[in-house]
Amino acid sequence: MCHRIFCQQLLLTVTLLLSLGAFANGEQKAAVCGACHGVDGNSINPAWPSLAGQGADYIVKQLQAYKSGSRQNGLMSPMAANLSDIDMIEIADYFAKQSPKIYFTSDEESVVAEKIYRGGDKSRGIPACMSCHGPNGAGNPAAKYPALRGQHADYTEGQLLSYRDRTRDTDQQMMMRSIAAKLSDEEITQLSKYVSALH
Ligand code: HEC
Ligand code: HEC
Repeated sequence: MCHRIFCQQLLLTVTLLLSLGAFANGEQKAAVCGACHGVDGNSINPAWPSLAGQGADYIVKQLQAYKSGSRQNGLMSPMAANLSDIDMIEIADYFAKQSPKIYFTSDEESVVAEKIYRGGDKSRGIPACMSCHGPNGAGNPAAKYPALRGQHADYTEGQLLSYRDRTRDTDQQMMMRSIAAKLSDEEITQLSKYVSALH
C-alpha cells in the first residue's frame, strides 16, 4: 500500500507521461509521411493528397485498404504495409488535428459544379455532394465521409475517375462508384476545382 496522496501523484504523473508519449508518437511516426504529404499534412505536390484536417477514421480506413491491397498505389501501398493498428490511429489523429492551410481559388465560378455539389441532378439520379461532404466540404468525420475542401484538384479528379472506372472500390455500397458513373469528364474536372476552393 502506498500513501493516498503519493498514489494520486504517481497516477497523475504516469497519465501525463502517457499522454505526452502518445502525442509525440503520432508526430514522430507521421514524420516519414511528411515527405510526401507535408509535415503539417499540407502537401505541395498536386498528385499527393493533403491530410491536414482529414477525418481520423477515414484516414485509418484508407490505410487499412492500402495495407490489405483493396486500394492500390505504387507510392502509397508500401508505406502502409508495415503500419500496425496503433500506428495508424496515432498518425491519423496527428493529421486530423492539423489545420488545412492550402486553399485554392477557382479562376471562374463554375455554375455546373456548384449546382451538382449543392443540389445534385434529380433527372439523372445524382445526389447533392453536399449531403455527405458538407456545405463547406469539411466532410462528416463520424460517418467517414472525407473532407474535400483544400484538396488538390488533380488528386480529386484522379479519384473520381478511378471510382468511375471502378479501380477504386473502397466505398461501401458503391456510394461513390454509382455517383461517379453518372458524371461526364467535364463535370469531374469542374467539380474537382470547385471543391478544392471550398472552406
Ligand atoms: C512517397 C510518397 C508518399 C509517402 C512517403 C506517403 N504517402 Fe500517403 N499517399 C501518397 C500518394 C501518391 C497517395 C495517393 C494514392 C492514390 O491515388 O490512391 C497517398 C494517399 C494517402 C492516403 C489517402 C488519402 C485520401 O484522401 O484518401 C492516406 C490516408 C495516406 N496517403 C497516408 C499516408 C501515411 C499515414 C503515410 C506515412 C506512414 C504516407 N501516406 C506516406 C504518397 C505518399
Ligand atoms: C451518400 C454519401 C455521398 C455522396 C452523396 C457523395 N459522396 Fe463522395 N464519398 C463518400 C464516401 C463514403 C467516400 C469515401 C469512400 C471510400 O472510402 O472510398 C467518398 C469519397 C469521395 C472522394 C475521395 C476523397 C479522397 O480523399 O480520396 C471524392 C473526391 C468524392 N467523394 C467526391 C464526391 C462528389 C464530387 C460528389 C457529388 C457528385 C460526392 N462525392 C457525393 C460519400 C458520398
